[in-house]
Parts: sequence; C-alpha cells; structure tokens
Amino acid sequence: MNDPIKIGIAGLGTIGSGVIKNLLRNKKELEDKYHFRFQISGISAFNKNKVRSFDVNQFTWFDNPIDLAKDTSIDLVIELIGGESGTAYDLAIEAIKNKKGLITANKALISSHGKELSELSSSNNSFIGYEAAVAGGIPVIKTLRGGLILDKINGIYGILNGTSNFILSRMSEADKSFEEALLEAQNLGYAEADPSFDINGLDAAHKLSIINSLCFSEFPSLEGISVQGIENILTLDHKYANEFGYNIKLIGSSSNIEGSLRKEVSPTLVKINSSLGSVSNVSNVVCINTEYSGTLVLEGEGAGEGPTSSSVLSDVVDFALDIKHHLFNKKHNKLTAPVSNKNFIERCYYLRVFLADQKGAMSNLTSILGKNGISIDQVIQRGGIHLKDEKNFTPVIMLTHPIDSESIDSAFSELINTDLISMDPIFLPVLKDNL
Ligand SMILES: NC(=O)c1ccc[n+]([C@@H]2O[C@H](COP(=O)([O-])OP(=O)(O)OC[C@H]3O[C@@H](n4cnc5c(N)ncnc54)[C@H](OP(=O)(O)O)[C@@H]3O)[C@@H](O)[C@H]2O)c1
Repeated sequence: MNDPIKIGIAGLGTIGSGVIKNLLRNKKELEDKYHFRFQISGISAFNKNKVRSFDVNQFTWFDNPIDLAKDTSIDLVIELIGGESGTAYDLAIEAIKNKKGLITANKALISSHGKELSELSSSNNSFIGYEAAVAGGIPVIKTLRGGLILDKINGIYGILNGTSNFILSRMSEADKSFEEALLEAQNLGYAEADPSFDINGLDAAHKLSIINSLCFSEFPSLEGISVQGIENILTLDHKYANEFGYNIKLIGSSSNIEGSLRKEVSPTLVKINSSLGSVSNVSNVVCINTEYSGTLVLEGEGAGEGPTSSSVLSDVVDFALDIKHHLFNKKHNKLTAPVSNKNFIERCYYLRVFLADQKGAMSNLTSILGKNGISIDQVIQRGGIHLKDEKNFTPVIMLTHPIDSESIDSAFSELINTDLISMDPIFLPVLKDNL
C-alpha cells in the first residue's frame, strides 16, 4: 500500500465534524476495499476552543485555514466552511494553485466561481470533488460526470432544497403556517439561523446552475435562471392545490425546448402521486430526462451530517483512486457563457387572488385575465373564507389553460394596480409531465 494520503480539513461544523467522524469510523473499510490509507494532518475552524463532537486534540490545529493549502505535506484539502467568497474562496484557490486535491460541499462557491475554478483546474490538472454540493447524499454529480456522460440530456427537474421541501410538506400535511413550519425546521436543525437562501430559492438556483454546467456545457451562473421562492405560499394554497390533484413543491428545472434552454426555480404544482409530488420532508429528488435511457429518478436525503459527509467520503475515494474529470465534464474552453432564459413556452398556471367582496369584482377579474389572453379551466370560490385581517376579501383560485409567461406577467402588473384584490396575486406554474 502507498503512503497515506494527508488530508487537511477546514470547517468543523455540521459537515466538517461529520466528515471527520465518518473518516475515522471507516478507516479499515477504506483500506480493505479501496487499498489506501489516510491521515488527517490538519484541521481548522473559526474558534479553536469550541466544544465539538469529536476530540479536537488528536489533530494538529491550524489557526489560519489557508495554511492547510500551503503546507507541503498535505495532499488533499477539504473545504467545509461555506460561503461564495472570503476564506472558503481563498482556500480553494490556494489549494488548486499549490497542486493539492480539493473537495468541497460549497455550492455557492462552485456556482459563483465555476469559470475561474474550471480554468484553474484545467491548467493545474487538479482534482476537484464536489459531490456534496448538490442534493446532499444523492450521487447526482457522479451520475452526471460518469454514468450518463455519453447520453444526451433533454431536461432535469428536481427538489434541490431540503429545508424548503420540509416547510412546504409541513404546511401541506400538518396544516402549519409558513412561519410555524420554518420555526420547526430551525428547531430541528434543518434550516440555517439565516434561512433566506433556502426560502428565496437561491440555494436551489446555485445547485441548478451546477447541474446545468454538467448537462448543457455552460459555465455555472445564476444569470438566466428565473427564481421565485416559497415565502408567499399560504397554507390554503396547499389545500386548493390538493383539491385540483396537486402538491406545491419548490422545483428547479432546466429544459431544452427547441434548442433554447429554459431555467427556473419556482414553487410549482406537481401531481400528488408523481415522483416529485410524493417526496416529503427534507428529501430531495432529481429527475433526469435523457435521450437514450428514459427518465432517471434519484431520491434521497438532501442534507444533514450523515448523507452529506458520505458524499464527501466518496470524493475522497475518487481522489485516492486518481479518478479525475474535467470540472464540468468538458475542458473549460469548450464551455459556453450561460444563455439567457427564454420563457415563451405555454403551460397551465395556478392563480390565487384575494378578491374584494363587491359587486362585479369577479367579472372585472376575468375581464383582465381575458384581455391578457388567459382563459380559465377550473375555479374555486367559497364565501366565508377570509384571512385574519382581510375581512372583505375572499380567496379565488383558478387553474388556467396553457398560456405563456409574458401574458401572466402582464396580467399580474394590471391586477396589482386595481383595487380588486388585497394582496399580490400568485401565479404558480403547473408541471405538465407526470414526473
Ligand atoms: N449542513 C448541510 O446539511 C449541508 C448540506 C450540503 C452542503 N453543505 C455545505 O457544507 C458547507 C458547510 O456547511 P455546515 O452546515 O457544516 O456549516 P456550519 O455548521 O455553519 O460550519 C461552518 C464551519 O466553518 C467554520 N468557519 C466559519 N468561518 C470561518 C473562517 N473565516 N475561518 C475558518 N473557519 C470558519 C466554522 O467554525 P466554528 O465552528 O469555529 O464556528 C464552522 O466550523 C457549506 O458550504 C454548506 O453549504 C451543508
């Protein structure tokens, strides 16, 4: 057996601590199965004196994480600090420049600096593993970097953020308000202290941009992804969506429609019993629609210490076995700038408004919709249902016939400038495919 691989680990929070425990627990297994040994040669975090779930004193402490990347004895740097800039970025760049292997779970970093990382990794012939950056324990990156490399991918749809899926599931299944479900997610350790990226869709968009690079040969970027979060969804939206036969899920999707890539993160109505509609709690699911292999569905735990650290370990094994790929499947000079979102396809929408209890309101509403080319397939309007401080407005829910998003945007602008409704309407796309 060769010399042990010397590993430096920066970031000892949920995932960093999990990786250390998982590595130590599987030491013998890794030796027997993959014929390599490792040594944790250095660890680093913000606060040396913090109590952690493993014995810090058995390892060499580095006050500055960047020194892990400068230490000539270290072969592999694992970055588990997080954040698209600052120490995580500096550490990653230093590790690559110093010809170390790099493993990270940091989707914000890969998404925001993918172009630079791709160029640097090509010129330094580096190993960069980032399986844990997308969908926690689900091996999406390995599937797209390996298994499906020669297949043509037509589209990809998924639930890419476990926290938002937990919140939506609790609202739908336990009748919780958005605020109650968010608090529950925070108490259970699923949501960050600042959960804004989980809720406003940006975390899912970062992951989608990485998937897009692997599937559609473009540099990762949020540009061109239309992003809508879950903050405006009410508990009653779930009830009405259910009546129509749907659940509401935060779906990230990219599809190649007549040569144009449409990229979106949005709360979306999906059939209750479909692969996407039936996934609850913190689980993630990724559906990959391919030319030759049909639709693959990968489902599993999308976050947390166990699944995420296990993805990091799978990258450690790849490093040990010298399994190297281009960062985004192709050499950096074969990748293109991301194309902007063209959203001209027609699809059905769920519309919810709180309509004034006044004569002619319904006919004025349908007239605005009609003027914008929107025709209604189904309507639910029940008297006696009001929000606490909206006594004179009643929810009206509609499912439209297929219509393009420009018409929806135009109807939205018109509606918010009337006194017909009490709060901004919501328009949610309905996923046509029964994935
Ligand atoms: N949590 C998940 O389920 C999950 C899933 C997939 C991917 N990820 C990704 O994994 C990474 C780590 O996430 P996490 O949940 O483990 O975060 P976390 O629990 O907040 O841990 C972050 C760690 O980074 C350290 N740190 C922060 N700023 C630092 C600095 N300037 N210098 C040195 N160390 C610093 C912290 O030190 P102290 O401990 O001393 O404060 C802490 O140990 C992130 O990129 C995240 O997006 C997380």
